[in-house]
Amino acid sequence: MKRIVLYRSKTGFVKKYANWISKALHAELKDVEDVEFSKMENYGLVIFGGGLYAGGINGLKYIKKNYHLIENKELIFFLTGASPGREEEIDEVLKRNFTESQLQKIKFFYLRGGFDFDKLGFIDKLLMRVMKSYLNHKKEKTADDIGMLEAFEKPVNFAFEKNISELVEYVEKLETR
Ligand SMILES: Cc1cc2nc3c(=O)[nH]c(=O)nc-3n(C[C@H](O)[C@H](O)[C@H](O)COP(=O)(O)O)c2cc1C
Repeated sequence: MKRIVLYRSKTGFVKKYANWISKALHAELKDVEDVEFSKMENYGLVIFGGGLYAGGINGLKYIKKNYHLIENKELIFFLTGASPGREEEIDEVLKRNFTESQLQKIKFFYLRGGFDFDKLGFIDKLLMRVMKSYLNHKKEKTADDIGMLEAFEKPVNFAFEKNISELVEYVEKLETR
């Protein structure tokens, strides 16, 4: 089964995972913005990865626009955020971004990324400065709030190659079904 990994990455965390996955699975690798969906008939498996941005998924708009061209393939999506990826949070993100039938069809993984303020673009920096000020003024800070505030001072990285193993095993099992 021919495989392709499509991704969209702002500061490099999703790109790192996309690279590791494409190598481990001998899959082609492309930025989702550059892909010609009409020429994808040869692929049996499409893996898409995008970062979480305020509950949205970076790059998902390209997938949604062309979903009718890939919905008959095996689909695996991985989401990458700075948060630990608690089940309730991820469920919420999935419900907000996908239809019931997409949720049934697509296999999802959460691969924790990190946070690198200096690499963000102008708008994202602005948004994050607002968030930083909000967190600084919050009276009772949670452990996540404190972790986020620390991440503004120096980049944090939770993206490790070993995190892809569950996804890779899932693909290997698909092939033997
Ligand atoms: C404006 C903004 C909003 C974000 N929202 C979330 C979020 O809702 N949940 C989360 O886990 N991480 C969030 N993040 C963190 C990114 O998802 C994280 O840095 C991820 O690793 C980015 O991957 P990328 O640089 O490859 O796009 C946000 C970051 C920014 C700048």
